[in-house]
Amino acid sequence: MAWNMGRIKANVDGTYNKDEVIKAANAIQAIANSGMGALYLPGTDKGKGWKETRVKPELFTDKEGVGKVATNFVQQANEMAKVAAAGDAAATKVQFGKLGESCKGCHDKFRVDEK
Ligand code: HEC
Repeated sequence: MAWNMGRIKANVDGTYNKDEVIKAANAIQAIANSGMGALYLPGTDKGKGWKETRVKPELFTDKEGVGKVATNFVQQANEMAKVAAAGDAAATKVQFGKLGESCKGCHDKFRVDEK
Protein backbone atom coordinates (compact mmCIF):
# COMPACT_ATOMS: atom_id res chain seq x y z
CA MET A 1 0.00 0.00 0.00
CA ALA A 2 2.81 2.40 0.85
CA TRP A 3 4.43 1.75 -2.51
CA ASN A 4 1.21 2.54 -4.36
CA MET A 5 0.66 5.66 -2.25
CA GLY A 6 4.17 6.72 -3.31
CA ARG A 7 3.22 6.24 -6.95
CA ILE A 8 0.17 8.48 -6.59
CA LYS A 9 2.22 11.10 -4.76
CA ALA A 10 4.88 11.12 -7.49
CA ASN A 11 2.14 11.79 -10.04
CA VAL A 12 0.42 14.62 -8.20
CA ASP A 13 3.79 16.25 -7.39
CA GLY A 14 5.30 15.70 -10.84
CA THR A 15 3.96 14.86 -14.28
CA TYR A 16 0.46 13.50 -14.03
CA ASN A 17 -0.06 10.15 -15.75
CA LYS A 18 -3.69 9.17 -15.44
CA ASP A 19 -3.13 5.47 -16.17
CA GLU A 20 -0.45 5.11 -13.52
CA VAL A 21 -2.63 6.76 -10.91
CA ILE A 22 -5.54 4.49 -11.81
CA LYS A 23 -3.36 1.40 -11.42
CA ALA A 24 -2.08 2.49 -8.02
CA ALA A 25 -5.51 3.55 -6.76
CA ASN A 26 -7.07 0.29 -7.92
CA ALA A 27 -4.37 -1.70 -6.13
CA ILE A 28 -5.04 0.13 -2.86
CA GLN A 29 -8.78 -0.27 -3.32
CA ALA A 30 -8.38 -4.01 -3.86
CA ILE A 31 -6.29 -4.38 -0.69
CA ALA A 32 -8.70 -2.21 1.30
CA ASN A 33 -11.62 -4.43 0.31
CA SER A 34 -9.80 -7.72 0.74
CA GLY A 35 -10.74 -8.34 4.36
CA MET A 36 -7.60 -7.05 6.04
CA GLY A 37 -9.02 -7.97 9.42
CA ALA A 38 -7.91 -11.52 8.67
CA LEU A 39 -4.31 -10.34 9.10
CA TYR A 40 -4.89 -9.66 12.76
CA LEU A 41 -5.51 -13.02 14.37
CA PRO A 42 -5.94 -13.17 18.13
CA GLY A 43 -2.55 -13.46 19.82
CA THR A 44 -0.58 -11.86 16.99
CA ASP A 45 -0.13 -8.76 19.15
CA LYS A 46 2.55 -10.91 20.80
CA GLY A 47 4.13 -11.65 17.43
CA LYS A 48 7.90 -11.71 17.31
CA GLY A 49 8.46 -13.38 13.90
CA TRP A 50 11.06 -11.76 11.64
CA LYS A 51 10.38 -8.48 13.37
CA GLU A 52 8.54 -7.60 16.57
CA THR A 53 4.98 -6.57 15.76
CA ARG A 54 3.94 -2.94 16.18
CA VAL A 55 0.23 -3.65 16.44
CA LYS A 56 -1.28 -2.36 19.68
CA PRO A 57 -3.31 -4.83 21.77
CA GLU A 58 -6.26 -2.40 21.52
CA LEU A 59 -6.73 -3.43 17.91
CA PHE A 60 -8.07 -6.74 19.24
CA THR A 61 -10.34 -5.26 21.89
CA ASP A 62 -11.59 -1.87 20.65
CA LYS A 63 -13.99 -3.25 18.04
CA GLU A 64 -15.86 0.04 17.68
CA GLY A 65 -12.67 2.10 17.29
CA VAL A 66 -11.21 -0.31 14.75
CA GLY A 67 -14.51 -0.41 12.88
CA LYS A 68 -14.47 3.38 12.60
CA VAL A 69 -10.93 3.72 11.19
CA ALA A 70 -11.31 0.67 8.95
CA THR A 71 -14.62 1.87 7.49
CA ASN A 72 -13.15 5.30 6.85
CA PHE A 73 -10.10 3.76 5.17
CA VAL A 74 -12.21 1.57 2.86
CA GLN A 75 -14.42 4.54 1.94
CA GLN A 76 -11.43 6.75 1.17
CA ALA A 77 -9.78 3.97 -0.87
CA ASN A 78 -12.97 3.44 -2.89
CA GLU A 79 -13.27 7.18 -3.45
CA MET A 80 -9.59 7.35 -4.48
CA ALA A 81 -10.22 4.79 -7.23
CA LYS A 82 -13.23 6.79 -8.44
CA VAL A 83 -11.35 10.09 -8.48
CA ALA A 84 -8.35 8.47 -10.22
CA ALA A 85 -10.61 7.14 -12.96
CA ALA A 86 -11.86 10.68 -13.62
CA GLY A 87 -8.25 11.74 -14.22
CA ASP A 88 -8.23 15.21 -12.66
CA ALA A 89 -4.85 15.92 -11.03
CA ALA A 90 -6.13 18.52 -8.55
CA ALA A 91 -8.97 16.29 -7.35
CA THR A 92 -6.54 13.36 -7.08
CA LYS A 93 -4.28 15.43 -4.87
CA VAL A 94 -7.14 16.30 -2.51
CA GLN A 95 -8.36 12.70 -2.29
CA PHE A 96 -4.79 11.43 -1.87
CA GLY A 97 -4.55 13.63 1.22
CA LYS A 98 -7.77 12.20 2.63
CA LEU A 99 -6.67 8.64 1.95
CA GLY A 100 -3.33 9.29 3.63
CA GLU A 101 -5.14 10.69 6.67
CA SER A 102 -7.17 7.49 6.84
CA CYS A 103 -3.96 5.39 6.98
CA LYS A 104 -2.66 7.68 9.70
CA GLY A 105 -5.97 7.51 11.57
CA CYS A 106 -5.44 3.82 12.16
CA HIS A 107 -1.67 3.96 12.66
CA ASP A 108 -1.94 6.73 15.29
CA LYS A 109 -4.41 4.71 17.30
CA PHE A 110 -3.42 1.11 16.74
CA ARG A 111 0.25 1.05 15.80
CA VAL A 112 3.18 1.61 18.12
CA ASP A 113 5.50 4.42 16.99
CA GLU A 114 8.78 3.28 15.48
CA LYS A 115 11.51 3.20 18.11
C1 HEC B 1 -7.14 -0.55 10.16
C2 HEC B 1 -5.81 -0.08 10.50
C3 HEC B 1 -4.81 0.28 9.43
C4 HEC B 1 -5.01 0.97 8.24
C5 HEC B 1 -6.31 1.55 7.72
C6 HEC B 1 -3.72 1.06 7.59
N1 HEC B 1 -2.76 0.44 8.35
FE1 HEC B 1 -0.80 0.29 7.92
N2 HEC B 1 -0.49 -0.77 9.64
C7 HEC B 1 -1.44 -1.06 10.60
C8 HEC B 1 -0.84 -1.77 11.72
C9 HEC B 1 -1.57 -2.26 12.97
C10 HEC B 1 0.52 -1.91 11.40
C11 HEC B 1 1.60 -2.62 12.24
C12 HEC B 1 1.61 -4.10 11.90
C13 HEC B 1 2.67 -4.86 12.68
O1 HEC B 1 3.73 -4.32 13.01
O2 HEC B 1 2.42 -6.05 12.97
C14 HEC B 1 0.71 -1.28 10.09
C15 HEC B 1 1.92 -1.21 9.41
C16 HEC B 1 2.13 -0.52 8.24
C17 HEC B 1 3.42 -0.38 7.61
C18 HEC B 1 4.74 -0.96 8.13
C19 HEC B 1 4.92 -2.36 7.64
C20 HEC B 1 6.20 -2.97 8.19
O3 HEC B 1 6.88 -3.66 7.42
O4 HEC B 1 6.52 -2.79 9.37
C21 HEC B 1 3.22 0.37 6.48
C22 HEC B 1 4.29 0.80 5.47
C23 HEC B 1 1.81 0.70 6.41
N3 HEC B 1 1.18 0.15 7.49
C24 HEC B 1 1.24 1.46 5.40
C25 HEC B 1 -0.12 1.77 5.32
C26 HEC B 1 -0.73 2.60 4.29
C27 HEC B 1 0.04 3.28 3.17
C28 HEC B 1 -2.05 2.66 4.57
C29 HEC B 1 -3.14 3.39 3.80
C30 HEC B 1 -3.13 3.35 2.37
C31 HEC B 1 -2.29 1.87 5.78
N4 HEC B 1 -1.10 1.35 6.20
C32 HEC B 1 -3.51 1.70 6.37
C33 HEC B 1 -2.76 -0.70 10.54
C34 HEC B 1 -3.39 -0.03 9.49
